[in-house]
Amino acid sequence: MLLYDTTECSIERIGNLIMTDSNIKQAAEAIHNATKIAVLTGAGVSKESGVPTFRDALDGLWAKYNPEELATPMAFKANPKLVWDWYQFRRELAGSVKPNPGHVALAELHKYNPGMVVITQNVDDLHEQAGSRKVIHLHGNIAESKCYDNCQGTPTLIDLDSFEWDRDDGPPACPHCGANVRPNVVWFHEMLPEDNLSLAYSVSLQCDLMIVIGTSGLVTPAATLPKIAKETEDNPAKILEINPDYSMITRYADIKIEAPSGESLPKVVAEVAKLRAN
Ligand code: OAD
Repeated sequence: MLLYDTTECSIERIGNLIMTDSNIKQAAEAIHNATKIAVLTGAGVSKESGVPTFRDALDGLWAKYNPEELATPMAFKANPKLVWDWYQFRRELAGSVKPNPGHVALAELHKYNPGMVVITQNVDDLHEQAGSRKVIHLHGNIAESKCYDNCQGTPTLIDLDSFEWDRDDGPPACPHCGANVRPNVVWFHEMLPEDNLSLAYSVSLQCDLMIVIGTSGLVTPAATLPKIAKETEDNPAKILEINPDYSMITRYADIKIEAPSGESLPKVVAEVAKLRAN
């Protein structure tokens, strides 16, 4: 399945949804009553850690570039140094931040629902750092690099510290075949890792609650997962969305908490703990 961006679609405001105590309680009850929980996260869950979301305007040097135009194989072929330097900037940023209370609260939920699976579009590892155990990465891992031609099999991961290269001179050459090295992330027009995607589909089909956090829902196939979960004939899942704004997912949401996840998730988890204690 190819990565596809539907940015041109409009996100409508539907209703008047906000974070209220009753939304938090409803969310906690849904979690308490669920058997199989799937969580889908996007860039918004890492925002309170200091990682700008994918579509936030960047500051300084990178402000003039459109991320959607840099995250493509065509852009890398046309200007490998530009794309490599942009990813080095993002890689350093991702490496310097820590999980926020939203990541931590989500990891705590594993205590109450050990089978819970987190499906993330994020290329950072903040869920794992916070202690989430079952994490499926749909869009790769920014800390890793691979040979552009995957000359030794897919992916041919390259340890950038294992050989000498000029760090000011764009991407290094693959030590096996000489092709450019690139970040191990999925770009627009590329296939998602097949095993992870099929696992994500099967988790979405089986869950009875999907918690969708911090995604605009503009990029498929990840954005189709809540619809798949909700429309499974014999086991339609409830959708709980946490996002301070409206998104392409809001139309499927049964419960919406319209607030940042770093603020609202700890409150939800505290309510779940109270329900469990009763
Ligand atoms: P976007 O940047 O499209 O959307 C981020 C979402 O997070 C928006 O809906 C915001 O309203 C919401 N948000 C902002 N702050 C938040 C907070 N504190 N708490 C919760 N939500 C918050 O990012 P994604 O939907 O993740 O792929 O984008 C999907 C994919 O598009 C990315 O993985 C990236 C890009 O293509 C690749 O790079 C392969």
